[in-house]
Amino acid sequence: MFKGVLFDLDGVITDTAEYHFLAWKKLADDLGISIDREFNEKLKGVSREDSLTLILEHGNKAGEISAEKFAELAKVKNDNYVEMIQAISPKDIYPGILELLEELKAADIKIALASASKNGPLLLDKMEISHFFDAIVDPGSVAAGKPAPDIFVAAAEAVNVSIKEAVGIEDSQAGITAIKASGSLPVGVGSPKDLGDDIAIVPDTSKLSLAYLETVWNGK
Ligand code: G1P
Ligand code: MG
Repeated sequence: MFKGVLFDLDGVITDTAEYHFLAWKKLADDLGISIDREFNEKLKGVSREDSLTLILEHGNKAGEISAEKFAELAKVKNDNYVEMIQAISPKDIYPGILELLEELKAADIKIALASASKNGPLLLDKMEISHFFDAIVDPGSVAAGKPAPDIFVAAAEAVNVSIKEAVGIEDSQAGITAIKASGSLPVGVGSPKDLGDDIAIVPDTSKLSLAYLETVWNGK
């Protein structure tokens, strides 16, 4: 049986993937770059800096932005995003997630956060679920962001679980690629159209439970 679960945050634990989209869309609009939900699938799970680079490349503006301006744009987006998440509370935890955290704790399965977001600790605090996490990986501490496996490898290490004995839960293409590359078992939240038809996928988090993860594990 698996010994650890490595959680993504945005779009898995709560609906902040939507706030990231709205904040990136506002920034892109202000730059005269149009991004839609399909393009946003590429930004999910990707670090702040890498997301901004993708947007600028999409708008053919990567060459005209100085390092100083780049840092300023990243800050504008984050300030806007942080304002949006101020009201997040335990009510915003996605269906089934609290129950899953409780079941994992009761079963003595380690819980780690493997989010690319620097706002992860703040969000866990606002949702009052920080105490469930045995480790929270600082995304700034890993060499390469998702789709590289580093953050999942670091998350398993942080809770002393072999990566091969861990399950990773993700809603993003970059995250699923990272989990696969890490050697842990991917479980997707979303649709096979976005995440691929070769992994276990739930349409929403209410379908996640310890029993479900065990079924996926036993069927691998
Ligand atoms: C970052 C990115 C965002 C991405 C998110 C993934 O969060 O800004 O595009 O979707 O990670 O969880 P940040 O550190 O800016 O909160
Ligand atoms: Mg996510």
